[in-house]
Amino acid sequence: MCDSCKKKFYITTPIYYPSDKLHIGHSYCTVATDTMARYKRLRGYDVMFLTGTDEHGQKIETKAKTAGVTPQQFVDNIVLGEKGVIDLWKLMNISYDRFIRTTDDYHVAAIQKIFKTMYDKGDIYKGKYTGMYCTPCESFWTDSQLKDGKCPDCGRPCQPAEEEAYFFRLTKYAEPVRKLLTETDFLEPRSRVNEMVNNFIDAGLEDLCVSRTSFTWGVPVDFDPGHVVYVWVDALFNYTTALGFMNDKYDDYKDFWPADVHFVGKEIVRFHSIIWPAMLMSMGMPLPKKVYGHGWLLLDGGKMSKSKGNVVDPYLLAERYGTDALRFFLMRSFPFGSDGNFSNELLISCINTDLANDLGNLVSRTVAMVQKYFGGRLPKEQQADPALDDALIAMAGGLHEKYEEQMERYAFQNALSEVFAVISRANKYIDETAPWILAKDESKRPRLARVMYNLLETVRICAGLLTPVMPATAEEIRSRIGAPAYDWDNLCVYGVLPAEAAVTAGPALFPRIDAEKELAELEALKAASEKPAEDPLPEPLPPVSFDEFCKVEMTVVKVLTCENVKKSEKLLKFTLNDGTDTPRQILSGIAKFYKPEELIGKTLVAVTNLPPRKMMGQESCGMLLSAERGDKLHLVMLDDAIPAGARLV
Ligand code: MSP
Repeated sequence: MCDSCKKKFYITTPIYYPSDKLHIGHSYCTVATDTMARYKRLRGYDVMFLTGTDEHGQKIETKAKTAGVTPQQFVDNIVLGEKGVIDLWKLMNISYDRFIRTTDDYHVAAIQKIFKTMYDKGDIYKGKYTGMYCTPCESFWTDSQLKDGKCPDCGRPCQPAEEEAYFFRLTKYAEPVRKLLTETDFLEPRSRVNEMVNNFIDAGLEDLCVSRTSFTWGVPVDFDPGHVVYVWVDALFNYTTALGFMNDKYDDYKDFWPADVHFVGKEIVRFHSIIWPAMLMSMGMPLPKKVYGHGWLLLDGGKMSKSKGNVVDPYLLAERYGTDALRFFLMRSFPFGSDGNFSNELLISCINTDLANDLGNLVSRTVAMVQKYFGGRLPKEQQADPALDDALIAMAGGLHEKYEEQMERYAFQNALSEVFAVISRANKYIDETAPWILAKDESKRPRLARVMYNLLETVRICAGLLTPVMPATAEEIRSRIGAPAYDWDNLCVYGVLPAEAAVTAGPALFPRIDAEKELAELEALKAASEKPAEDPLPEPLPPVSFDEFCKVEMTVVKVLTCENVKKSEKLLKFTLNDGTDTPRQILSGIAKFYKPEELIGKTLVAVTNLPPRKMMGQESCGMLLSAERGDKLHLVMLDDAIPAGARLV
């Protein structure tokens, strides 16, 4: 069927803040979205799967400044750089159709038009934003953002202040949004509806501040320079600009909007189920059909973060266990709508139980038996035994219905349980039919062939339905059992493999993991990654002119004598050959780091045009250069071949 005749399905993930590298929790939603997109493709839909990055805002601006790069360089590195967002999606085998970056020109221009449209309509108006202002950080904070009444970034006191800002009339849409939430199934799971209605709508919505003037890294409000568009307005409309809404870059808006479903994490349900529909209503645009708020992957009971060490690093996990195993674990172990506790024990036990024991064993035993008993190809002559076969055939043949029911509800865990119930049943069927006994009796060959056929056909259906979660494994199994390409029609029918099915052996799909050894190795890796980080680099200094720099006289000196200064724990007293006839005396606060005798004869650098100063009653004529990192000082030592009196230039 041509793409334009197919039914459309549009699904999105939240677009990620590239403020830090992503962890396995971030992959959760994208793997779920990919699973759904692949499932719908298998069902014959023309799918649009959108993901991307949300690159504006103060947080990025500040992080870039700290890193000493421009915000664009900063986000480019995290999105496009090694082990960045794009690399991660490649690693996780994410089959997105489109990737949007909110810094893309077409998106920026479209956001300006969208903002202006709501402004012209009177739904965005200019007002005053009041809050607590931190002058050194140039940041506004709400009362709830303050930490002990102080700036959450620098800890300094804030002052009440106000700035001009644009506001969106969210209050105008409170009632239509309430209706949407309470009278339709727009938001799922339904448990999230009460939270939105009680905590936000009933508590009283306020108009939303949708522009900022305290930083510049955002989409400029083109009709009022100095204002940038609030990052959530910029971010939410990505779902439409990426289809070509108010821009010429793409042309799929009419085909794919409204979205069938936005998958989002629970903490951003508020933006997607209140602000987003309100703004779409203002724009007169159709609303998405559904927002699904999934739970979090927790680590030690708390939200996962990169700072919890490399056990949550998707690269490390995929390298150790394989992408498909990791994808499977995410979809199989946690109900999508609720939180789940991530642990290495759970991951390993999931791989060992479901993948190595159940699926892996079924495939390898079946293929090995077809090879052993029939040289790899089944004979045509086969004999059924309904008493033993029918239960398995009914389960495998009816699996698609149960699976579909769960997948359509985004209940990935349940859908996989259905598949694994059939896989277990097939393993049990091997025990019940005891092929090794049938193989001993030549007259039972037709019966043995039918047993093998039932196993292969069951494997085909199960593996085909695992395609959305484990695409590479499903394909590998398909090629081993010589099955035709999977499509929904052939997965709904039992008996698609030809009677004379032929198989090819291969290595174990999922080798069993020695849990104890593996956990010990992971523990060691975790401990290594938790070693205290290096002391932070000092703040950069303001620039100096070359002329100013040249005024500092730095001279190569040789240590003639060095001794501790009485009653001082810090000071060492040096006499130095500075190339003149008169030895120079300098006191330096490095007694904690060096013994005097180890410095005699060393070649050092002194600043020699500082005014003399008294320390502990003794004169110091200059300063020895040393390098400081954390609480350690190192004297700058030069090659002894450099003569005393040489000038550093
Ligand atoms: N940029 C916004 C989304 C804008 S959508 C118009 C954002 N980005 S984020 O990078 O902070 O988070 C992206 C998604 O990752 C969110 O849906 C968030 O819930 C999800 N997760 C982050 N940590 C997670 C877990 N530990 N577990 C599950 N999902 C997690 O929010």
